[in-house]
Amino acid sequence: MQDITELDLHYLDWNAPGFAANPWPEFEKARERHPWLARTDQGYAVFDLKAIRDLMVQDDALRPSFDGIVDIMECRGSPWGRFAEEQMIALPDAEHRFLRNAFARKFTPRYANQLRPIMRETMERLLAEWTPREKIDFEEFASYYPIAVTAQMVGAPLSVIPGLRKSMETMGLAFSMDKTRVPDLDAAFEHLDAFAHDLLARRRAEPREGEDADLLDMLIEAGAEGNVGDRQLADLIIFLFVAGYDTSKNVLTYMMHLMIDNPSIYKRCADDLEYCRRVVEETLRVFNPSSAFRAATSDIEYCDVRIPAGTMLFFNLNVAGHDAKLFADPDRFDPDRPIVAENRHVAFGMGKHMCLGQYIARAQLQEGIHLVARHMHAPHADGEPGWRPFPGVWGIKGLPIEFTPA
Ligand code: HEM
Repeated sequence: MQDITELDLHYLDWNAPGFAANPWPEFEKARERHPWLARTDQGYAVFDLKAIRDLMVQDDALRPSFDGIVDIMECRGSPWGRFAEEQMIALPDAEHRFLRNAFARKFTPRYANQLRPIMRETMERLLAEWTPREKIDFEEFASYYPIAVTAQMVGAPLSVIPGLRKSMETMGLAFSMDKTRVPDLDAAFEHLDAFAHDLLARRRAEPREGEDADLLDMLIEAGAEGNVGDRQLADLIIFLFVAGYDTSKNVLTYMMHLMIDNPSIYKRCADDLEYCRRVVEETLRVFNPSSAFRAATSDIEYCDVRIPAGTMLFFNLNVAGHDAKLFADPDRFDPDRPIVAENRHVAFGMGKHMCLGQYIARAQLQEGIHLVARHMHAPHADGEPGWRPFPGVWGIKGLPIEFTPA
């Protein structure tokens, strides 16, 4: 048994220029030194799919370490700093369990399927507006889709979308560990906070009942049952928007990036919604935006390594699908690749914080790519894509494309 601090690990300099555009070779170098661990400036990276699966479920020995990130960003007590430490995922066990159970009742595959007509209408509306342009930034186009769907889930008017988008773009850079961003993060949070409080006040004044009740009514009701105050309800609404925004947008954008090089797969997406399910799962294997940050709360022993309490671990869900031991020709995008349970991607995390929105995200992406493929024919690159910081909510920043409108 060796202590993690004694291991000779590869150093991942993930702030280095170029890292975010192509991180995989660096992770390969890391794997040559150690099968599942690397060193970073802020702690240790766990990049191997099996190690992530085995370790991330050890919820009793790990806790999401947003306080650690707030320390790195030096913003304890600022509006965004407070939110980061008190948002749903960072709450103490009992409070988290209560909220998670309340949400879980609603966030079922059935609810995701009920939302499909809203998803289709939303995408059709966006396509009607954007398709005639023929040359677009696909990332910007994609950004309106998840916000519009979430807004409709809580009965918010579509007029709020441009403002929310701006604030959520800023919030998406929160975990880039760059403390110069804190004033912008605070301003973005305060905008979202005013929106959430206004939404709650309006709904309290005019509650919806029976068939008309939506997610917001359910949240207000659960809040009343569990004595959850408005501060926390507003945080929850903000968290829902933020959790589903740049994750979904970045995956849809990357999917289009893949489609440019895979025209026959893209064409099949237009014809076959069922096939889009496979395309979405394979996309989430080759790319996903998420990392999960944890601090060890007690000593962990795994594969002859001792991880002492207090160690900061970054679970690189985002690159774990490229393991050549598990996937033949791992960089090849192949939606017909057989899905083996133990090799299933970990894009939605593992353990007690596993993504509650995963059924919604999947439905959104399937409906999204299906309709995009029907309306934007023969897409090709119209410039180089940029990249968002790694490991934050990683992904393409700006995907200029040109296409033929259907
Ligand atoms: C492709 C899109 C998405 C991806 C890749 C994704 C990924 C993730 C991951 C990895 C986690 C766990 C983080 C951790 O353990 O530290 C998570 C948690 C969560 N996600 Fe998602 N997510 C997506 C979309 C959504 C959507 C659309 C919603 C809601 C509408 C949502 C709501 C949540 C919530 C509420 C949690 C916290 C669960 C908890 O703490 O118990 N996500 N997501």
